[in-house]
Amino acid sequence: MTSLQTAQSQPILPSSAPFSEDHITALNSVISGSSLAQRHWLSGFLAGYEVAHLPAVSPAAAPAKKIPLTIAYATDSGNAEEVAAKAKKIAGKQGFSAKLVDFADLSVSDLAKAKNLLVVASTWGEGDPPERAVEVYQALMADDAPRFDGVNFSVLGLGDSAYVNFCEVGKRLDERLEHLGGMRIAERVDADLDFEEPASTWTTGALDRLVDVAKPEPAPQTLPTAEVFHLDFPTSAYSKAQPFPAEITDLVNLNGSRSAKETYHVELSLEGSGLTFEPGDSIGVIAENDEAVIAELMMAVGLSADEALERRLRTDVDITQLSKPVMEAYAAVAHDDRLAALLDGEAWKAYLPGRQIIDLVTDFPAKLEADALLGLFRKLPPRLYSVASSLKAEPDLSHLLVSAVRYNSHGRDREGVASTFIADRHKVGDHLKVYVKSNKNFRLPEDPDRPIIMVGPGTGVAPFRAFLQERQATGATGKNWLFFGDRTYTHDFLYQLDWQEFEQDGVLDRIDVAFSRDQPEKVYVQDRMWERRADLFAWLEEGAALYVCGDEKAMAKDVDAMLSTIIADQSGADPEAYMAELKKERRYQRDVY
Ligand SMILES: Cc1cc2nc3c(=O)[nH]c(=O)nc-3n(C[C@H](O)[C@H](O)[C@H](O)COP(=O)(O)OP(=O)(O)OC[C@H]3O[C@@H](n4cnc5c(N)ncnc54)[C@H](O)[C@@H]3O)c2cc1C
Ligand SMILES: Cc1cc2nc3c(=O)[nH]c(=O)nc-3n(C[C@H](O)[C@H](O)[C@H](O)COP(=O)(O)O)c2cc1C
Repeated sequence: MTSLQTAQSQPILPSSAPFSEDHITALNSVISGSSLAQRHWLSGFLAGYEVAHLPAVSPAAAPAKKIPLTIAYATDSGNAEEVAAKAKKIAGKQGFSAKLVDFADLSVSDLAKAKNLLVVASTWGEGDPPERAVEVYQALMADDAPRFDGVNFSVLGLGDSAYVNFCEVGKRLDERLEHLGGMRIAERVDADLDFEEPASTWTTGALDRLVDVAKPEPAPQTLPTAEVFHLDFPTSAYSKAQPFPAEITDLVNLNGSRSAKETYHVELSLEGSGLTFEPGDSIGVIAENDEAVIAELMMAVGLSADEALERRLRTDVDITQLSKPVMEAYAAVAHDDRLAALLDGEAWKAYLPGRQIIDLVTDFPAKLEADALLGLFRKLPPRLYSVASSLKAEPDLSHLLVSAVRYNSHGRDREGVASTFIADRHKVGDHLKVYVKSNKNFRLPEDPDRPIIMVGPGTGVAPFRAFLQERQATGATGKNWLFFGDRTYTHDFLYQLDWQEFEQDGVLDRIDVAFSRDQPEKVYVQDRMWERRADLFAWLEEGAALYVCGDEKAMAKDVDAMLSTIIADQSGADPEAYMAELKKERRYQRDVY
């Protein structure tokens, strides 16, 4: 028997019914005095009434006409692709028919045919497009570029505000699309290294505007929320947003004691994390600022000891990297005429090199409150380190090769935030917060028989140790050739024993080394490439893939120029076309920083 029935099967409403006590009593007095037929009539009446007065349901709605959308991305290390893929997913939920295209694979005329276009583009070099996007970028900038009349567009730029040309490619594309007749439906967003949130806001904003502008019939459903991006690595619960505390199982300086450099071999245990990676990927390390730098900064702006503030300055924000946005933010609170003059024009560009935020606040002193100080900074970006091991050879481990950054500029000794956080303030048994940053554009060839040529001076050699471990573990038969360089043979031959072992095991077929300071004239990897040009070109003709990793500013440019010289010398062919073809076939890949 339920609580709704009396012993005589006479229903009464329970005290929990959604009515006041008086109403329950009144209703029960009616119900208890009613006949079965009356109660049936009453329940039928109420049910029928509700149905009759529900908001009208339209007859089977015609399938919503989807809004066509092209999401094009220009990427090097994959961030723009991840953002674009996420935007596609969100667009799909909002009723768009969205397609994702890589600048590397599209033609400008196809792009101009898009009705609705979202562009996500990163900036590299000194304001340059990502390598594989150069061709399309140049075609867009050319005089004979097609018109974009009738194309609704919006651009998201990815970049790093530490660079003078912050998000330059995004800015130029945005201007260009408008110039070619496109209609900007949402303002461009320039996203810094901490791009997830601005990317999320831009995506939902641009999609909402497209829904308004495109006005499909009937309108597609819109997502009510600004879904925040979490570009998680799918195989693990750990990600950039939630890094894994990895135990350091080895930490050793590979340089000799008389070397001017310190390059640390770091082993991290990923056991229990579920994190996996491929050779060519990097590990992101969450670093902390140095206490001494924090103390100096606080003193410079007149702040005394404050534990909570110090904690935030240590873990949350970038207190060293000087940039134009930081200078502008500081100018707004410091009210210094000399600083205002520096920012009024181009003079700030000459002020930046070799200087940090501490120089700004000492050169243009001002007293700041804690909030004003915190307001100057961007979030502290994680630092990436190429993995130097293969999971097939070293299960559950990730090896890194970290060069400790130390230098003196403008009369001040300075230390790299993350590299010295690892080198000076950690030991075996400590933990580092890490995540995996995958890089699809730096991968071993799928064909295990394909020869590879690896050019990796300094820490640039790290991924090639992973490549060789992987090729050894999988029994890949392709030939392997390494160009390595550093300062001296005696003190700076990183992983020397490993290369010897790889040679003995028949994994490393050739190694050419260039130690710049072992002789009066400087010798670099590109010089060795030139000396071996006939063989190098023969390997390329056999189908070899060529990889370059390491310093972007000098080495990668010089190696690129040398490759071009060698191709011209050996083949007489147009080196630009030859190299473009190599890139298209993914036989010329670079991971430079
Ligand atoms: C995909 C990728 C892979 C990478 N892999 C590796 C790797 O395997 N190993 C490795 O060691 N690094 C690697 N890096 C670089 C690494 O991420 C850090 O940038 C590097 O360790 C410096 O970080 P930091 O925090 O120690 O220095 P920061 O505090 O970031 O300081 C570095 C900055 O100091 C300035 N600076 C440095 N030297 C001088 C100087 N002599 N004069 C004036 N200014 C100077 C420059 O502005 C420089 O950008 C990689 C980067 C990327 C993007
Ligand atoms: C070697 C190098 C050069 C870079 N040059 C610039 C630059 O000139 N301007 C800028 O805004 N960002 C620059 N960046 C930052 C990248 O644009 C940023 O990391 C971006 O998120 C990369 O996106 P992607 O993975 O889609 O290529 C540079 C980064 C590296 C490693």
